[in-house]
Amino acid sequence: MKEKSLDWTQKMESIWGKGNPIHIIESPARINIIGEHVDYLGGLVLPAAIHFSTFLAIRANSEGKIRLHSIHFNESLELSSPEVQTEKKWANYILGVVEELKKSGQKIDGFDLIVDGNIPQGAGLSSSASLEVGVGYGLSRIFNLSLSRPELAILGQKAENNFVGTQCGIMDQFIIAVGQKDKAILLNTETLEFNYHSIHLENAEFYLINSHVKHSLETSSYNDRRKEAESAFQKILKLQPGIKNLYSTPEDGFDPDLYSFTENEKKRVMHVLGEKERTQKILKAFREGDEIAAGKALGESHVSLSELYEVSCPETDFLVKELSSEGVLGARMIGGGFGGCILVLDKIGNYEKVKSNVLEKYFQKFSIRAEFFPFQISDGVREIVNSEV
Ligand code: GLA
Repeated sequence: MKEKSLDWTQKMESIWGKGNPIHIIESPARINIIGEHVDYLGGLVLPAAIHFSTFLAIRANSEGKIRLHSIHFNESLELSSPEVQTEKKWANYILGVVEELKKSGQKIDGFDLIVDGNIPQGAGLSSSASLEVGVGYGLSRIFNLSLSRPELAILGQKAENNFVGTQCGIMDQFIIAVGQKDKAILLNTETLEFNYHSIHLENAEFYLINSHVKHSLETSSYNDRRKEAESAFQKILKLQPGIKNLYSTPEDGFDPDLYSFTENEKKRVMHVLGEKERTQKILKAFREGDEIAAGKALGESHVSLSELYEVSCPETDFLVKELSSEGVLGARMIGGGFGGCILVLDKIGNYEKVKSNVLEKYFQKFSIRAEFFPFQISDGVREIVNSEV
């Protein structure tokens, strides 16, 4: 830790010279167990923060400038005012947070920020939300903004919606802000009420597979899916006024043919209502320690994401199918989709065998090397060391 603090300080001073005290922030990645593509529709989600992280070093400066440096891209940027997007995508997540803070009436002076991290990008593990929440936390620290963790989450989401342009829900930023070691949260995305849940199953373990098919939410059909789900909801509202969101549509006796949905709208609605049911099944399975039922619900969620919500891709579909032939308990794509990571629930002891069989078949089929990795559930965003040296 000490060494890390020294490195960051040296790095910052080598770029911009000596200055104010430096704060080092660690902001995690996330997985989601169940509740996919429902967090912008008022649904329940069950995410957890994981041990891959974005690291930031940040300090206030007296020049009134925003000075940024990305270690990963080896790029720097200096601006007086962040109002418009830059060509450097990584910087836009940071500038979006600054803009949203200013809009909310906070006074943000100049600051220096270095960013680095080890979250695989475009892998569905929320590297962008991790950066946004980390930046909000860092700015709150250096300018004494006293933002609560839920406020940090909302700030990050607004940056993404309004500045970056992805109409994402609140799940990613929220879990990154409030996550706790070894716990998932069950979050109601309508009310933002949440509680911590153990997702431990006696004879089973979770792990991830990166398909190495990169998704890009802002260029993908993510915003279209959201629009389709919202227009379907407007049609439901006409016949059933008073329902507060699509997720709350009563499933009992629900007849999609009553609503003059387009074919796509119908499929999106059927995914959302099915996901609601699967979420209850998984929660029950965790309460009862039933790893078979938990795995089954994961597998069903993947089929629904692939066939009804249409956010999967041939590579992740293939992986899930192969995993199923290997006898894992269940697997599904996580996050926005169109590639990225798969979450697997498997019996303890199967990992090595499944890994070698599936990797080989995947390579034969797509000439892509996928990657298997275990993960630990970690705390949310935090300051790791005060590096004033
Ligand atoms: C992305 C978004 C989230 C959520 C998921 C899908 O990760 O950022 O808000 O919509 O996709 O569940």
